[in-house]
Amino acid sequence: MPAMEAIQTVERLPSMRQGQEGLAALALVREELALVEQKMRSLGDVGFAPLAEAFLKILESGGKRLRPAVTILSARFYPCPLEPLISLAAAVETLHTATLVHDDVIDNALLRRGTPTLNASWSHGTTILAGDYLFARAASFAAEAANVRLMHIFARTLMIIVDGELRQLFSLRNWQQPREEYYRRIFAKTASLFSAACESGAVLSGAPEPHVQALKDYGYHLGMAFQIMDDILDFTGDDAALGKPVGNDLRQGTLTLPAFYYLQAHPEAAASLEAELRSGDGGVERVVALIRNSPAIERAHEEARHFADQAKASLMPLPDNPYRQAMASLADFAVAREK
Ligand code: IPE
Ligand code: IPE
Ligand code: MG
Ligand code: MG
Repeated sequence: MPAMEAIQTVERLPSMRQGQEGLAALALVREELALVEQKMRSLGDVGFAPLAEAFLKILESGGKRLRPAVTILSARFYPCPLEPLISLAAAVETLHTATLVHDDVIDNALLRRGTPTLNASWSHGTTILAGDYLFARAASFAAEAANVRLMHIFARTLMIIVDGELRQLFSLRNWQQPREEYYRRIFAKTASLFSAACESGAVLSGAPEPHVQALKDYGYHLGMAFQIMDDILDFTGDDAALGKPVGNDLRQGTLTLPAFYYLQAHPEAAASLEAELRSGDGGVERVVALIRNSPAIERAHEEARHFADQAKASLMPLPDNPYRQAMASLADFAVAREK
């Protein structure tokens, strides 16, 4: 597919269109993102037709493409060859996609990006294998960049993500866990990938170590802000705008920051929470509404904004240029977004 046509493909992605104001910063890397899209379409080349179809459907369902965007932006402070950069950014987004495929099985989620998930029609075992295929494809995209340090970053990040998802599963329905556990989990499942995306973009461009570190720190703080906001939206958003089921964290028994602050302010609620959540007659919706209308939301939001500010502060050692400005506005977007 020629580059121009690929750009148009990106413009057609539904969620890119709706989020355009917030994602205006991505205009700077629009052409590269179109090439990433084109590269990822090779997922449709897999010989087994049902798998190829499933992958293309997931790709076409859109997504904000934030992780490849920060990968590319991070590589733009120093001259960076285009081809390995596109492979790297495709690797990052494919890794993200694989974690979503597995996450929706784990979270029993039937909707993602407004489209039925793979596990809505496939068995869990089959869906997990499709996710495994995507992990392997992500690794092979990354290998195309022919840089051993990047392979180390990738492998380590995947280990951290799996560790985070497992920790989450092992702490389900534990409403009294320390707040530190929450931070550890969201670092593992989300911030680690944002951080790795930025770090690997910087490494590929040959940035000096202090700048690699600055971008890695930016990615970490951006990812923390992003996941806290995702956890807030699970209370304040609506299914249609988010394209995924709200209230699902509580439904699954996952303690997130808004619920943590609510329970801290109402320790007496912890005892009845479990029974309320398990009562089939709208119990989850009642608890979601309680938390949504409580000051816990604003407290969590304040914290997300604090992480976003730290993300912007991390950029300070870097030259002030349009790439740095775009990254700063992405940090603002992460905590102002509605999807
Ligand atoms: C969803 O990530 C998973 C989390 C880490 C919260 P995104 O909100 O970036 O998902 P897409 O790719 O835009 O659909
Ligand atoms: C992100 O957490 C998990 C991954 C790293 C895939 P969530 O479980 O909150 O993500 P959503 O809300 O399903 O997108
Ligand atoms: Mg989930
Ligand atoms: Mg979520």
